[in-house]
Amino acid sequence: MSRPARESVILVTGATGDAGRAACRALAAAGHQVVAVGRSGAAPAELTGDRVQFRACDLTDVEAVGDLGLAVRGEFGLIDGLVHLVGGWRGGRTFEANTDDDWDVLSSSLIQTLRHVTLEVHDDLLASDAGRAVIVSSTAVTNPTAGNANYATAKAAAETWMLALADSFRRNQSGRSQEPLPQTAAAVILAVKAIGDKPGFTTADALAGKIVEVFAGSADELNGSRIDLTAGL
Ligand SMILES: NC(=O)c1ccc[n+]([C@@H]2O[C@H](COP(=O)([O-])OP(=O)(O)OC[C@H]3O[C@@H](n4cnc5c(N)ncnc54)[C@H](OP(=O)(O)O)[C@@H]3O)[C@@H](O)[C@H]2O)c1
Repeated sequence: MSRPARESVILVTGATGDAGRAACRALAAAGHQVVAVGRSGAAPAELTGDRVQFRACDLTDVEAVGDLGLAVRGEFGLIDGLVHLVGGWRGGRTFEANTDDDWDVLSSSLIQTLRHVTLEVHDDLLASDAGRAVIVSSTAVTNPTAGNANYATAKAAAETWMLALADSFRRNQSGRSQEPLPQTAAAVILAVKAIGDKPGFTTADALAGKIVEVFAGSADELNGSRIDLTAGL
């Protein structure tokens, strides 16, 4: 069962990348209020407007993430959604090329930022009547290559974290009543090979369209799902 789209307050982290800008545009066009988050600096022109507000926050800094949550709640009263698009890639040609330095960078950008921001918004998403948390993962998780081990492992950890978040949504919502209740919050993993215009890649606009669909879809069906966007490409 799908529900009509309604205006949600959605935090888009990693908003200044290609995928982030496309997601902000598409979510705002669908009528949502977007809070676009970049690591630092001033708002790019594209990320300001009636339905898009820009905020800078280094998501590796847990206190800064707490301040971000307070500021968004202070302005909009609630947070319905998180689209976490913080990225980064490090790798090499061989298994031995997976260095500690690269692991530190990837675990910080791909895992730590996700941990911080989902822990911050968990209760908000549960309180919303349509809470959603979305990440974009990689087909490298299921088909890792030797030189990409650090990256694939960090993305696998991010996926596992999202499945634990989905379990929390399920447990919290089924715990409210003896009767089974419809789920309202969903944690969703979208998987791509890469973002771009080449064959087999997913365009930023197609990805953004899928993200908008997640906000209109059924939480019961979506929670804990991993949707492979390479199918049919
Ligand atoms: N690109 C691909 O081919 C591909 C493939 C598979 C999966 N994905 C996933 O898809 C998502 C979007 O990809 P993308 O290529 O658009 O990502 P990207 O360009 O690598 O994204 C970088 C974004 O993350 C932000 N960021 C990085 N570190 C941050 C931090 N500590 N705190 C806050 N923001 C931080 C950057 O902000 P600043 O610019 O301000 O530093 C920028 O907005 C990512 O999760 C990525 O892992 C991408």
